[in-house]
Amino acid sequence: MKTAEIRQKFLDFFASKHHQVVASSPLVPNNDPTIMFTVAGMVQFKDCFLGFDKRAYTRATTSQKCLRAGGKHNDLENVGYTARHHTFFEMLGNFSFGDYFKHDAITFAWEFLTSPQWLNLPKDKLMVTVYASDDEAFDIWNKTVGVPAEKIVRIGDNKGAPYASDNFWTMGDTGPCGPCTEIFYDHGPSVAGGPPGSPDEDGDRYMEIWNNVFMQFNRDETGTLHPLPKPSVDTGMGLERLSTVLQGVKSNYETDILADLVRAAARETGVAYSQDVPSLKVIADHIRACAFLVADGVLPSNEGRGYVLRRIVRRAVRHGYKLGQKNVFFHKLVDDLARVMGDAYPQLREGQAKVEDALRAEEEQFARTLDIGMALLEKSLEGGKTVLDGKTAFTLHSTYGFPIDLTADICRERNLELDMAGYERELKEEQERGRAAGSFKMTAGLAYDGNASTFHGYTEVSTEATVIALYKGSEQVQQLDAGDDGVVVLDNTPFYAESGGQAGDVGEISVAGGLNALFDVTDTQKVKADVFGHQGKLARGSLKVGDSVTATIDLHKRHATQRNHSATHLLHAALRDVLGPHVEQKGSLVTFERTRFDFSHPKALTAEEIAKIEALVNHVVMANHAVDVGLMSYDDAIKAGAMALFGEKYGDEVRVLKMGEFSTELCGGTHVHRTGDIGFFKIVAESGVAAGIRRVEAVTGEGALATVQALESELKAATGVAGAQPGELVNKLEKLQAELKAAQKEAQQLKSQMAFGQLDQLVGLGMLTIKDVKVVVSNVDGVDGGTLREMSDKLMDRIGSGIAVLASAYDGKVSIIARVSKDLTGKVKAGEIANHVASQVGGKGGGRPDMAQAGGTQPENLPDALKSVGAWVDAKL
Ligand code: GLY
Repeated sequence: MKTAEIRQKFLDFFASKHHQVVASSPLVPNNDPTIMFTVAGMVQFKDCFLGFDKRAYTRATTSQKCLRAGGKHNDLENVGYTARHHTFFEMLGNFSFGDYFKHDAITFAWEFLTSPQWLNLPKDKLMVTVYASDDEAFDIWNKTVGVPAEKIVRIGDNKGAPYASDNFWTMGDTGPCGPCTEIFYDHGPSVAGGPPGSPDEDGDRYMEIWNNVFMQFNRDETGTLHPLPKPSVDTGMGLERLSTVLQGVKSNYETDILADLVRAAARETGVAYSQDVPSLKVIADHIRACAFLVADGVLPSNEGRGYVLRRIVRRAVRHGYKLGQKNVFFHKLVDDLARVMGDAYPQLREGQAKVEDALRAEEEQFARTLDIGMALLEKSLEGGKTVLDGKTAFTLHSTYGFPIDLTADICRERNLELDMAGYERELKEEQERGRAAGSFKMTAGLAYDGNASTFHGYTEVSTEATVIALYKGSEQVQQLDAGDDGVVVLDNTPFYAESGGQAGDVGEISVAGGLNALFDVTDTQKVKADVFGHQGKLARGSLKVGDSVTATIDLHKRHATQRNHSATHLLHAALRDVLGPHVEQKGSLVTFERTRFDFSHPKALTAEEIAKIEALVNHVVMANHAVDVGLMSYDDAIKAGAMALFGEKYGDEVRVLKMGEFSTELCGGTHVHRTGDIGFFKIVAESGVAAGIRRVEAVTGEGALATVQALESELKAATGVAGAQPGELVNKLEKLQAELKAAQKEAQQLKSQMAFGQLDQLVGLGMLTIKDVKVVVSNVDGVDGGTLREMSDKLMDRIGSGIAVLASAYDGKVSIIARVSKDLTGKVKAGEIANHVASQVGGKGGGRPDMAQAGGTQPENLPDALKSVGAWVDAKL
């Protein structure tokens, strides 16, 4: 039975038992920071179990895309080494949200597996496990279903803590959980392995195919279990494992979909198809994980989900390399995957080009360092070492991009020990060095235990305030004197402290209009949450703790910053509009001069895309939408469609910034009142910061005007220098370039003619006779390699038997040609002469016995090198 048919049968069975068939959710869970990926079918129903979400149905069934790589559920390192582990897999599930419980869950499972109308599996091939204390489940299996007691294994807490058991399922460190009962299929004695609970249970003989979890608790951060509002059911059945059983094979990798991918991996790595090559299985597994991740919006990067993806791609590429494939190959399997899984998951076909591009880019990046990294690894193991030292593992990670689990994978293959502690030590030291070298902020590390500051800068430019703390350097003081650099903390302030990518405000703090004290604020940073540190220099007077001051921001710069910040939101929305919804903010820096925005996108933007983005942003600017700010709960904000940054911590109440219908984002920064205030938006640079991350820099308002004016004046100057009419610069430059090329060609021809003119002279005056052999050695100035060769042909025609060495310095480089007539090659070889000369001018050469060409980089050494030829030839003859 094909995998697609099994998938459908399962859904049909549970539909017949009044379950709602629900589509698979993405691999990246929506708005759930407690787990990285969808690890099971229940993830999309988490809130239903917890009682937070009510649906129109209380029974559901799905075939769910899952990924177990990174985090609590992580099978990455087992992939390739067992018959049944995967990073990506499909989980079939049926769920009850406070509807049925243990009895129905168990009897449904048994019916589907064993009924002749459904899968018709032989009952004697199945055995089950229950949580040690779950007598209820034991009795249902034994008395209601009729499974003999010796085929029901009780499994207790076998993982070192209460409720840490193969038969107690938890989604993550927190969340819904409960005892479970699992169903195993026995592949028979020809496969190694023991029944569950036995010492050999990790073998492949007994394969878990179905897990019925009785969701009863919610686990909190402290590990405490709280009963759920209603006991529920969450089941998970590995589709690939079920295919293995129904297709009568012994390994998931022999089932229809995966076998096709193993075959594709063999084709692309140039080895014969085999189920006994772990690397082929690794590649077949990994292409599914990687392609589905990219299709669901994840791109390779150095953090979070992107890093998990990077690790999987690199692991696959390394396995290809191990099989001898040194070129990029992995992305070529996307097409095979779309063919075998595209019907069930159409996004694979729709996103195929995007997925291929992203994987190819990652492969290319890693290919640049893989070879040298492997050489370094081999070298560190020379002399039969059995431990890979931590320093090498760290260098492989930091310089050659080998994720540590990739290095661990290599060690495992070769039975080497990996010095993990040494690696961790190196990593920590590196992080500390990084911190020490981080940009210096006066506010960094200041000790402070006073009151917080109140920020008035959304509405005020200038605020009356009291000095509540002062620092000279990092030392807390009571007074600053003229000339002191320091930090001023105020109880009230209009200064925005750097956060959310917006730079801190600049301005001044004064006492009595600046007569008694004037402090120039050059930056504002948070000393800690809600404590604003104004850093700068006391230009005049003295400033004491307790002084009443006026704090005034530089409004001109603040306005410019606001324009740039509001424009950043429009840019973000426009990028998603023009490039696609995979664009995610990866960082930003907004100053009064410009905005810099980093985002996920696999390749450089084209000129057309940039023009489109500029046009779209300016269009929204001209529409002059009001910029609305609202305070609301985080959940309401997300429901209203606000874009939030994954991994950012937001408080209960968030600030939502809306510009027409075009952009809605969570933001604590300061902004213009209407989009028209931005004036004019212009992109000034586009570049790459890391694989899959692009950076756009842009200017607005006066900055944009200044940029365009500078471009215009440069254009005018260039037009003048080129002697072109306005608007004719390109034509003129093309014409000038053509003229230049023609002139260069002519000059070259003249030089060659002159050189040929020297031939007579060379034969006449420049010819030596060494032991009766005619030898011409000459420096022919200023001709290229081609001309030199033609000259040597003519020269050899003239002298017949003999040796000729011609060299020339041209364009900072040396060209050398050596000729030896055939009758003399037994004694002297042209390649050796060329090498003799080249080695003295910073080069190397070689070639045929009768003719050899070489080059060098030190024209200044050429005369002496040529002088040495006579004696050298003499010695050979
Ligand atoms: N949530 C059930 C399982 O993953 O096995």
